[in-house]
Amino acid sequence: MADKPDYVPGLAGVPAARSSVCLIDGQVGKLQYRGYPIEQLAESCSYEEVVYLLLFGELPTKAQLESFDAELKEERGLKFRIVDVLKNLPERGHPMDALTAAVACMGMFYPGDHVEDLEFRRLCAIRLVAKLPTVVAAWHRIRRGDNPIEPRTDLGHAANFLYMLEGHEPDELEAKVMDVALILHAEHSMNASTFTARVTGSTLSDPYAAVASAIGSLAGPLHGGANERVLEMLRTIEDSTSEAVRRWAEDKLARKEKIMGFGHRVYKVKDPRANILQKLATQLFEKRGRTPIYDIAVELEKQMGELVGHKGIAPNVDFYSGIVYEKMGIPVDLFTPVFAIARVGGWLAHLLEQLQDNRIFRPTQIWIGEADRTVPPLADRG
Ligand code: SDX
Repeated sequence: MADKPDYVPGLAGVPAARSSVCLIDGQVGKLQYRGYPIEQLAESCSYEEVVYLLLFGELPTKAQLESFDAELKEERGLKFRIVDVLKNLPERGHPMDALTAAVACMGMFYPGDHVEDLEFRRLCAIRLVAKLPTVVAAWHRIRRGDNPIEPRTDLGHAANFLYMLEGHEPDELEAKVMDVALILHAEHSMNASTFTARVTGSTLSDPYAAVASAIGSLAGPLHGGANERVLEMLRTIEDSTSEAVRRWAEDKLARKEKIMGFGHRVYKVKDPRANILQKLATQLFEKRGRTPIYDIAVELEKQMGELVGHKGIAPNVDFYSGIVYEKMGIPVDLFTPVFAIARVGGWLAHLLEQLQDNRIFRPTQIWIGEADRTVPPLADRG
């Protein structure tokens, strides 16, 4: 009998798939989608091009992009019953829960022959990428008593999302910043929510169920939920002086509290996405005026580098994203839903890859309980 593999908490470093979607080298801060460096994709592509790359394996030609973009625009609208579902949810509920609910019932409107039907899978992917931004924007408006704003087909994916939030067409910089932020958050190999999507999809459950389960996973504060908490955390630091920030960081670390936006299972240097988001923040502040919270963030990065940099704890993607979103007027509790409308491209890419060579996930366990016990009568227990 072959030796049983050792138990690895959190499956850290344990391969769960063979994949060609996303390559990460955490020692040097390398991130590539289908072999293209994230820096080049963020500089030269739109989110639509990057989702096409993730889903189908190659960057689109001009004709392929036009056709793909037209399909996405065609599918941006929501069934009125999904809007009715949103209108009946408790308005104080978290937007990630509203998103999970809407996506879970989305599949009821698009029953397909079966997930093994390639065209069914493709259509599910188009609908989910196209509709998630509309759900998030619709919930944001419905929860405060306003009607949703219909999606437009003359705006790009990122610009249309910003437009649907408040009815204002974003300026060029805002649209570009949002587009790059979606690209940066689109994919990241075997993170918890992507693994969740693969596990659900491996049972041949439909893509809507797989994405709904991934949204639930992303919502956690140790994963996508961190970006919302980074801003709340930065606001508790009294000022950007090195003394105040150092004192705050030392106090947190002394209490073994996790500092949101820092650390990563894979990166042992600064997350390359944090570098790009930091540059976006600088562009926004140059145009719209500085934000004190950015100065606090930069000082915290410096202090954490001195305190725990040697342990490989550095800023991750969530550290600067919230500062960018806040400067763009996006409410804090929409930060993680924005992460979700980007990451849906990566979840679907991995789901399609899983289905190409599928085997249902069924790991094992190391038994640490008792066995072969006898049930005592109720009267004799305790
Ligand atoms: C995302 O996986 C992905 O790819 C995720 C993601 C993606 O794109 O999908 O990149 C997005 O989820 C980014 C991470 C967002 N989460 C946070 O910012 C929350 C704070 N970070 C930590 O919770 C933590 O760093 C994790 C969860 C991100 C990683 O946890 P690990 O790899 O399980 O590390 P660990 O908890 O075992 O910590 C190892 C050591 C511990 O110290 P010791 O007990 O060994 O002395 O490092 C310390 C930890 O206390 N540590 C931290 C820390 N992160 C790790 N100490 C303080 N603050 C932190 N943030």
